[in-house]
Order: sequence, then structure tokens, then C-alpha cells
Amino acid sequence: MDVTLEKSLPLKGEIEIPADKSITHRAFMFSALAKGVSRIKNYSLGADCMSTLEIIKQLGCEVDFTDTGILTVNAKNALTAPKSSLNCGNSGTTTRLIAGILAGQKFNSKLYGDESLSKRPMKRVITPLELMGAKLIHNDYKLPIEINGSSLHGINYNSALSSAQVKSCILLAGLNAEGETIYTEPYKSRNHTELMLEYMGADLKVNKNSVVIKKSELSPIDITIPGDISSAAFFMAAALIVPDSDIVLKNVGINETRSGIIDVIKAMNGDIELINERLVSNEKTADIRIKYSDLKALTIEGEIIPRLIDELPVITVIASQAKGTTIIKNAGDLRNKEADRITAVTKEMKKLGADIEETSDGFIINGKQSLKGGCEIECYHDHRIAMSAYISGLICESPIKINNFQWVDISFPEFLTIIKKLTVL
Ligand code: S3P
Repeated sequence: MDVTLEKSLPLKGEIEIPADKSITHRAFMFSALAKGVSRIKNYSLGADCMSTLEIIKQLGCEVDFTDTGILTVNAKNALTAPKSSLNCGNSGTTTRLIAGILAGQKFNSKLYGDESLSKRPMKRVITPLELMGAKLIHNDYKLPIEINGSSLHGINYNSALSSAQVKSCILLAGLNAEGETIYTEPYKSRNHTELMLEYMGADLKVNKNSVVIKKSELSPIDITIPGDISSAAFFMAAALIVPDSDIVLKNVGINETRSGIIDVIKAMNGDIELINERLVSNEKTADIRIKYSDLKALTIEGEIIPRLIDELPVITVIASQAKGTTIIKNAGDLRNKEADRITAVTKEMKKLGADIEETSDGFIINGKQSLKGGCEIECYHDHRIAMSAYISGLICESPIKINNFQWVDISFPEFLTIIKKLTVL
């Protein structure tokens, strides 16, 4: 599906942000490990989370979409051997987390994915899993991966990456391993796994950037999932750059391991206000009011990078409208996402008229630059590049056409309906 859009009028109104993708993956997978029935309210309908849901069904869980909007997962007694290979689709989170779960099972399984996922690096989880005693068969550390279930033992692992997918994989393997598993990362990545496992009764302790986990049984959960700050980020960006905008985003998860975008917006002089802060199922949540702002550039680097890793494509759009030079550093892992987001974003933003250069681990963006548009944009099979392009299109002088916009369905199938609510006065 191709989408054409033109310069927007101010964004006004109030919208509800759909459920967090990272938390939904975890709610589905961890329910599959708990004996009994878990109840999940407000889950993501994105294709990635549906890949996880299909996999837990293949592993023997009974899943029911009730009429009250609550999804129930009945994990019965234990996971059972799947009858066929498990399709992770486009989802890195599904692959890496489920690998940690499957490595310590009493049965064998096989993971595969789409073309983009099959190119993504899996050594980051294969190496520590093998150190725990996992038996994995693969070609050059890529999917497809055969997992021969084996008994695992704990390790003390110092990761070179600040990656929540790697951390979660090892913690999940540790949940079913003999002895203690200690995982340490350079900067703290998103901690939804730790929060949810604690909520479900796992024997887990967090000390700064280290987590210690021991073999534990999980109790079923009754969880309400907050809105996804990574989805809200597109609307935050739109409000900041479309003149006279003033919007409210309701029900946004603001866990501090995810809220780097809010810190960046404040530092750029953005007019943003958190309202009605509350705790929803162990996760901080708020409503956010955000308005068009006179933005200034900044440098984004170091510990904040994992706290806003998925927002960097749309942050380049915001930076193109900020006075001065924005420098983004230490974000080399963006090259290993659904696409090489450094090269892809730079190429497409340049087409629109932005003054942006790629570096080995980030971007240099000079603003404030008027975006001319009047061109066709590619989204590289990448949902976040597609939505970032759409947000730039709202301020382009001439209409833009975004090819293959259907990739938004990976994380945010409701995107077009919601943005249209804000842009129709
Ligand atoms: C995710 C972790 C991040 C993020 C991804 C979701 C998660 O990936 O980019 O969209 O749910 O754990 P990395 O762990 O590779 O940084």
C-alpha cells in the first residue's frame, strides 16, 4: 500500500495510544511459562506480537480473545513440543526471547523468520546461550536456528551491548537453569522483563546494570498493558514540528528505561507536560500534553541511547526543525534493526531536503531546514522508517508518496486512523 500526503494543518485533540509492543511480547511469552490462566488487557495488535502469540499456541498454550477485550492464555502444565517450525516473522524480540525459553526445554524446536529477520545478527544471543550449555544449530549465527533442548546452567555474563533482547533471552534461560545467572550490561536497557518477572514471582534481583536470576516458578498474571511510548513518539514529533499544534496523548508508558525521548524533547526546549502520572501493572504511565515549539539542537549520546533507541529515526525529523547542529553518537546498533536505520534514514531525509549526514554510529543534522518534499520515499520494510517519513511529510512544501506503507502493521496497525483524527479539524 502506497500513501500520499500533503502539508498538514495544526494537529489538535486527544488520542489514546495503543498498547506497548515490548510489554505485550513479554506478557504473551511469560504467561506461557506460568501454570494457570493469565489475563491480558490492552495488548498490541501489531504483526510482531501476533508472531509471538502464534508461537505460544504452537507450544501448547490455549489462547482466547474474550468479548470483554481481555486475552486469556492458559499455559496448562508445561510447554509441549511444536509440530512444525516456529515462524518469528519480522520480529527480533520474538526470536531472541523465545530462544532463551526454548534452549532449556526437554524438546527440540526450530526458529525461522522473514527475509529481513534472517539477515539480523543472532550471535549476541547464541554465544551466551551456548555458554549456559544450550545446543544450537545455525549457519553463520543467522536464522533459521535449530534448538536442541538441553539442561542449562547459570553463567556470569558481561555483555558488550546494552540490549534488552539479549538481556531478556539470558534471564529467561536463567529462569530454567541450575544455579545463579548474572547478567550485566554497560548501560541500562529497557527493564520490562525484570519488572514483569518480579510481578510474577521470579527469584530476581536488580543491582544497577546487573540482574541476578535463579530457577523459579511463575504465577499467572492479570495485567493491563500501557500505551507504547515508541508509538506515541511519532505524534510527539508531529506536534512539535507542525505550527500551532497542541495535542494530548493518553495512556503512555513512561518507564524511565524507555523515556529518553521525553528528556530529549525537554532539552530541545519542547513544550511537553506529563499529566496524571500513575502506576499500571508495575509500569509508570501518564498522559502527555505537547505543543508546537521553538526547538534547539543538542548532542544525544551515551546512557540515553538505549532509552530511546527505537525513537532515533523520528528524532532525526525533529532535529531537522531545531536550530543548530544535532549530533547523535553511540547508536551503531541502529544498523542491525529491521533495516540499517542509519543509512536508510539519511538517504530518505536527504531526498526530502534535510541537511543530514551519516556517521559510523549516528547522524549529524543541521537545522532548521525547510523540507521540500515532492518525492517518493522508500521504507525498507521498516515500520519505524515508514512512520518517520509520514511525520516529515506533514511539514513538506510539496506532497510526498511513501511506498509500501503497509510495513506499519508490524508495530502500529492503527497509525493512519489515529493520525487522521489529529489532523482533521
Ligand atoms: C526491544 C529491545 C530493543 C528495541 C526493540 C524491542 C525489546 O532492541 O530496539 O524494538 O522489546 O526488548 P535491542 O535489544 O536489540 O536493543
